[in-house]
Amino acid sequence: AVPLDLAGRHVVVSAGGTREPLDPVRFLGNRSSGLQGYALARTAVARGARVTLVAANVALPDPAGARVVRVGSAEEMREAVLEAVQGAGGEADAVVMAAAVADFRPAGYRDSKIKKTPGAEPEPIRLVKNPDILAELGARPHGDQVIVGFAAETDDVLANGRAKLARKGCDLLVVNQVGEDLAFGRPDNAAVVLAADGTSTEVPRGPKEALAEIVWDLVAARLKPAPG
Ligand code: C5P
Repeated sequence: AVPLDLAGRHVVVSAGGTREPLDPVRFLGNRSSGLQGYALARTAVARGARVTLVAANVALPDPAGARVVRVGSAEEMREAVLEAVQGAGGEADAVVMAAAVADFRPAGYRDSKIKKTPGAEPEPIRLVKNPDILAELGARPHGDQVIVGFAAETDDVLANGRAKLARKGCDLLVVNQVGEDLAFGRPDNAAVVLAADGTSTEVPRGPKEALAEIVWDLVAARLKPAPG
C-alpha cells in the first residue's frame, strides 16, 4: 500500500528544461526531458499531496491529479515557482526543483530573425546570468518549507554537491551522476541525496519513480507536523 504521508500537503515540483530565446525562432536550451520531475509529481499525487507542477518545454501528458503550469524561459519559471510556493493556501510544504534551469540567457532578444550577412562573420552571442530560483527560495524566509534541489555533476560529485547544497540553502540536494547512458532523457537514474544535516542516501541505478519515492521519504521525514 502507498503511504499517504503527503496528505494535506502542498508540494511544488519543477520539471523540464528552460529555453532562452534568441530571436522569434531560436533559443538556447538543454537536454532535460522532464521525466524525473513528472515522476516526482506522479508519486506525490499517489502519496496524497496537492501538487503544482511547473513544466518547462516538456513533451509529456499532464500527470493526473496535478495542477500543471507550463512555462518557457527561466524568468517565466521563476515567476511561476514563486507564485506557486506562496500560493493562496499559504506557503507550500515542500518545493522540489528538478528542472534544468538555464544559468545564462542571451543578453538581447531580437524581435526579428537574425540574418546571415554574405561575407561577414556572425556576431557573437553575449550571455547574461539568469536568476537562480533555488538559491532565491533558500534565501527567502520560508518557515518550515522543505527545499530540494537537483544537481548534475560529472566530477568530484560529492564535494561539488556539498558545496552546492550549502550555497543554495536547500535541505536536500539530489546529485545525479551524468554519463553517456544516465540521466538526461533516460528512464533510469543513479544519485546520491545529500542532506543539510550531513547525512547522505545512496540511490542505486533504477527507475526515476524509485528515486522520486526516496526523495519524498526524505521530504516527509523533514515535514513539521501539519497544523490541526
Ligand atoms: O547551479 P546548478 O544549475 O547546478 O543547480 C541546479 C539546481 O538549481 C537545480 O535544482 C535547478 O533547478 C536549480 N536552478 C535554479 N535556477 C537556476 C539554475 C539552477 O533554480 N538559474
